[in-house]
Amino acid sequence: MRKEVVLITGANGEIGHGLITHLAHKEKANILALDVMPIDEALRPLCERFIQGDILDNMLLGRLVAEYEIRAIYHLASILSTKAEYNPETGHKVNVEGTLNLLRLAVEQAGWQGRPVKFLYPSSIAAYGLPTLEQKNNSGKIKEEDWCNPTTMYGCNKLYCEHLGRYYTKHYRQLAADRTPSGIDFRAIRFPGLISAVTTPTGGTSDYGPEMLHHAAMNIPYNCFVRPDTRLPFMAMPDAVKALLLLEAAPKENLSKLVYNVTSFNPSAQEFYDQVMMAFPKADISFIPDLSRQGIVDSWPEDIDDSAATKDWGWAPDYNQERAFNEYLIPAVKNRYK
Ligand code: SER
Repeated sequence: MRKEVVLITGANGEIGHGLITHLAHKEKANILALDVMPIDEALRPLCERFIQGDILDNMLLGRLVAEYEIRAIYHLASILSTKAEYNPETGHKVNVEGTLNLLRLAVEQAGWQGRPVKFLYPSSIAAYGLPTLEQKNNSGKIKEEDWCNPTTMYGCNKLYCEHLGRYYTKHYRQLAADRTPSGIDFRAIRFPGLISAVTTPTGGTSDYGPEMLHHAAMNIPYNCFVRPDTRLPFMAMPDAVKALLLLEAAPKENLSKLVYNVTSFNPSAQEFYDQVMMAFPKADISFIPDLSRQGIVDSWPEDIDDSAATKDWGWAPDYNQERAFNEYLIPAVKNRYK
């Protein structure tokens, strides 16, 4: 008998840390973890198995199909927006071809099991692209259907993979004589910038938020690469994990969309700075905008409308800005770097 598992790609990343901890402790799930990097020693005992490997390695993915019954996939592996701009073609390969490989794996699994395989996909506010700063400032809360003209390779990849998820769920092999559903139950969340107290992001463009906080806590000077008036939606990591779990558990008949916005608070960089300075008054933080990265952030919405997630699957964040800083981020980073 093949063992039933939940597959998590990008397991050693920021979302992976929170998700594995929760799934192992609260749901006693058998976790099959995959990452190109070695896994954090603290996470290893929480996983049924960890494999260091690449989502582009189809032989490896084939072996997983043979060995395990994968009931759900959290496909977290990705190259983030800043890093992908340094090598767009590699970004595309990992973000798009990697996702395609996992969708194919999910189809096979669903076929063997005779039941749908849930495919949880973290998309991003990077899927949006507002043409001007003025438009950003005047658009308020943006809905899922609006302004889907991303300017980054990562944003294009995320948006396209959402479409791939829709294709596999609804239109897979639509001309085949023996057409049967793919068996994929694709569910995506467009996350805002995520802030974790236990990890720091690598290669994103919303990173100025978490970087400000972690540098202040470590007492290392930091140059914030956006202007103080820059506004973006953010979310504390426990809420991101909560959103994934809620969406996974939602009855399919309640879901009117395949892709949902979620958010919680949206400080300006100045407000983020003020919040950090209150906790670390001696922090050395300067604003030295990097025009290129600023341009990316200026194309992302300053707020997003997550009412569909609230209506369809009861989404509500536990952490508003005050709670996120005072009850989660500040105590946890102080403890981490003491
Ligand atoms: N945090 C991501 C990035 O900055 C956006 O989803 O690339």
